[in-house]
Amino acid sequence: MSRVLIPFPDLQPLAVDLAARLNARVAPVGWRRFPDGESLVTLDPQLSGVDVVVVAGLRNVDSVALALRFVAETARELGARSVGLVAPYLPYMRQDTRFHPGEAISAPIFARFLEQSVDWLVTVDPHLHRNPRLDGLFSIPTRHVAAAAAMAAWVQANVPDAILIGPDSESAQWVGDIAARAQVPFQVLAKIREGDRSVRVSLPDPVAARGRTPVVVDDIVSSGHTMIETLKHLATLGLPPATCLVTHAVFSEDAYERLLAAGARRVVSTDTIPHPACNAIAMAPALAVACEALLAERTPSLAAP
Ligand code: R5P
Repeated sequence: MSRVLIPFPDLQPLAVDLAARLNARVAPVGWRRFPDGESLVTLDPQLSGVDVVVVAGLRNVDSVALALRFVAETARELGARSVGLVAPYLPYMRQDTRFHPGEAISAPIFARFLEQSVDWLVTVDPHLHRNPRLDGLFSIPTRHVAAAAAMAAWVQANVPDAILIGPDSESAQWVGDIAARAQVPFQVLAKIREGDRSVRVSLPDPVAARGRTPVVVDDIVSSGHTMIETLKHLATLGLPPATCLVTHAVFSEDAYERLLAAGARRVVSTDTIPHPACNAIAMAPALAVACEALLAERTPSLAAP
């Protein structure tokens, strides 16, 4: 088999599904920490001539990044023909400008770190805002997998009378697409962020929402404040309890519990970040299509010259 998929520990279920779709052998990373906190990674040494696909959950990127570099470099040293990365959640994308004097613009710095490590990258719905395209940020080949089709299928199957609510203008890109595919109406609210833990969100239009079940859609729930503010407004409109539908369940601290306490009927996410209660939408099928395309680009054509 000329493909080996190397998953980091937290994304094993997604990785096993992905490996089956890519016809790849699974060879998990051995990763242990010494008492002083330094990492030792160990790979299956049989990597000569193979295409390696590393699957890494980057929710806690600051503690994973160096091990990821060790894995990529070691795979090459052991003879891998190519090393690609599937990072279903791509962190640091929101820090794409200098919000205050002297701050690091982390998104391009992190992009350079990754492209020094791997030959190609596949991710799901990166938070592209002021950098509108992934290939504007990376010089290696990249594929951006959209979760919209899978999320729309979930809405159609589970909340057919939904009205989708996007909490801010940035969410318009996902919400409009999911609503069109699920054939349900949508609204996009306006958000003012006053700090890391303080946001204000405009009121939804009660007439458009009447008779519908609200589903609040966002790409990321981090502190949860954006969703919670929106849930508070929806509660005043006399609508059924809202479902929260999110691509990346980042959930800082107790954000998930606070969403439920704020009145969410249910919180549903894709499996780009593992969460025992809310991962309901599998991204392996779409990730496999993107990986196949990038692996094919690296495979010399068998056609006659
Ligand atoms: C921001 O533009 C994103 O789309 C999300 O709305 C934001 O990251 C959510 O953050 P929080 O959960 O901290 O309000």
